[in-house]
Amino acid sequence: MKFEISNNSPLEIETNWLVVGIFEEAEFSESLQELDEKLEGSLSRVQERKDLTGKLGELTILADVPQLSAERVIVVGLGKHDKLTIGSLSKAYTTAFRHLATKENQSLVIMVPEGASSALGEGHSIERLVDVATVACSRQNIYSTEQDRYEFENVLLCGVSDFEVNQNALEKGLILGEAVNLTRELVNRHPDDLYPETFAQRAADEAADIHLQGEIFDQDMLEDEKMGALLAVSRGSDRPPRMVVLKYNGGGKNAPTIGLVGKGVTFDSGGLSLKTSAGMITMKSDMGGAATVLGAITAIAKLKLKVNVIGVMGLVENMTGGSAYKLGSVLTSRSGKTIEIHNTDAEGRLVLADALAYAVDQKVDKLIDLATLTGACVVALGEDIVGAFTNDQEWCDELKTASQKVNEEVWQLPMHDFFAEQLKSEFADCKNIGSRWGGATTAAKFLEQFVDDVPWVHLDIAGPSYAESSSAHRDSGGTGVMVRALVQLAADSC
Ligand code: BES
Ligand code: MN
Ligand code: ZN
Repeated sequence: MKFEISNNSPLEIETNWLVVGIFEEAEFSESLQELDEKLEGSLSRVQERKDLTGKLGELTILADVPQLSAERVIVVGLGKHDKLTIGSLSKAYTTAFRHLATKENQSLVIMVPEGASSALGEGHSIERLVDVATVACSRQNIYSTEQDRYEFENVLLCGVSDFEVNQNALEKGLILGEAVNLTRELVNRHPDDLYPETFAQRAADEAADIHLQGEIFDQDMLEDEKMGALLAVSRGSDRPPRMVVLKYNGGGKNAPTIGLVGKGVTFDSGGLSLKTSAGMITMKSDMGGAATVLGAITAIAKLKLKVNVIGVMGLVENMTGGSAYKLGSVLTSRSGKTIEIHNTDAEGRLVLADALAYAVDQKVDKLIDLATLTGACVVALGEDIVGAFTNDQEWCDELKTASQKVNEEVWQLPMHDFFAEQLKSEFADCKNIGSRWGGATTAAKFLEQFVDDVPWVHLDIAGPSYAESSSAHRDSGGTGVMVRALVQLAADSC
């Protein structure tokens, strides 16, 4: 898809769609006045009839505008001017782009709303417009024989002042949008298409494209690395496990290294603690953490950020085969700690225990893990908020600040020591589940045992990484949540 910044007057360019934004309860901006005059007042007439209010996400189409070089105009409601944020801008334009992308070969001329640069910072609105256009055009129904979404042929962005800043922002927006799309695509792939081997191969291909160093660990190598917990989860499956490690060294020798660790359960049947059909139907998405790590590290590398990042993706399928791990089984994890299994559906923490321990052994300075880890976190925070847990408040605050900047909602949950008491075992160092209550925190307390004293944040993305239904500004399926936040965090760490 081609994006360009143009200095020409948006009213003089031939295009399928002229896209203009309008704020609620505000006078027409200068460019809107100009457009209205050219349209002989039809914009103000539509407004007087209250068919155009500027409410966030409202779309008004003027389909017959012979006075213009554009074929049609779409007016996007931006909400109240003083409430404009990156989030509201995204919602408004995603709603519009989703609509426009249903037709093939469309060209767009976007009049970047006046006041957006001053409200959001020069470049930020361009970056986000390009980002969400890239996301809105990519379809989620990847196995459907009927295509319902098409890339735009050409997108011209008009009305920006600082060309260089905005050209950089445009390129960054494209990289971010593509990274989000990569994560979404992997989450959407069905479990007989995307499994540990094929995920690892895809990661290797993506890494090779951008000269990222990496290593893929197969079953034997994982055994050599003593990844007993990860391997136990994998035992019930016919599909062998993998671990992908990607290294990006943009910060040089003396810069600190951030470890990004992702849960990559390509299908979670629950194992012998079998899920119900209703609980299992979305479990192809249980590799969302690993897909987020892959999306983020490829974007960080493409943006050439001056940081060092190691991405570790633990890839297994949790099944019920004859060799499956059992209730009462005791595993020896990579760290040496023994774990008694009380529920084979609490498998993500076992995969992460070994992947985190591996990252710690690589001498990372800070750690983030991402996992679709607990239903309890979805119960606590709903489908749109990521749960955060930490052993280091400062590092968690940095993550929260980065998330806020890119409008991804994160809420910190408790880590009181007494939750860990629930994990005591009669036969081993710990067991893999606690009681019914506080399940998101006991999962986090379980993980904490494997990060030593490395500053660490655990992000439970069970709710937000996969949308069960579509809304005006978001497609159902994989969302790519936290890709932008991780990239922002890496940028802030430079
Ligand atoms: N992958 C699930 C968590 C999950 C649930 C993700 C719903 C997305 C939506 C995880 O492996 C799991 O099964 N967790 C159990 C833990 C329990 C057995 C302690 C859960 O949340 O029920
Ligand atoms: Mn599970
Ligand atoms: Zn799981």
